[in-house]
Amino acid sequence: MKRRSFSKFFLLIGLISGIILLNLHCGNGEDAESASEPAESADPMQNKGIGPISNVELGPIDAAQVAQGEQVFQTKCSACHKLDERVVGPPLGGVTRRRSPEWIMNLILNTNEMVEKDPIVQDMIAVYYTKMTFQNVTEPEARALLEYMRKYDSDHPQAGADMQ
Ligand code: HEC
Repeated sequence: MKRRSFSKFFLLIGLISGIILLNLHCGNGEDAESASEPAESADPMQNKGIGPISNVELGPIDAAQVAQGEQVFQTKCSACHKLDERVVGPPLGGVTRRRSPEWIMNLILNTNEMVEKDPIVQDMIAVYYTKMTFQNVTEPEARALLEYMRKYDSDHPQAGADMQ
């Protein structure tokens, strides 16, 4: 009687370690896959995001757009963002140095899809525990917001130096 329950015990141990080994093996396979991700996730400036904006031409900073952008920022963004510190979302100072202009405008204009699918946004959700929400911004407003952030960044060359 005792012997039988002993061998059952060893059978069970054998079964469990078999399952663990199998899992470890599959886990390694996944690692190997994620190591060969496309290069776009390596350099965020190469990521243009998902949405209506495929190319933004940047010229000298346009003061009228900066002023319009500041107004839109105050009404539609400042509940969650400041330029120089974290609020609900990340501080936006330096964002034009770490993200492409197309990515920034697509995030503002196509927020829901970007929040769902973009790898950079996915990483940020893990840090900020909140999802950015669409603010009914038009394309000219999004362009003005970009100009406002470009102006801030050109006046603050160190802003966002510690951000990824
Ligand atoms: C409800 C809060 C909320 C509002 C409103 C909001 N955001 Fe965000 N934003 C976030 C969060 C949170 C993130 C980080 C990504 C995430 O977790 O979804 C983010 C990320 C960003 C980023 C990327 C920052 C980086 O370091 O890459 C930009 C740019 C941005 N927001 C601009 C704006 C602008 C412009 C507006 C106004 C039109 C706005 N956001 C409105 C919460 C908000």
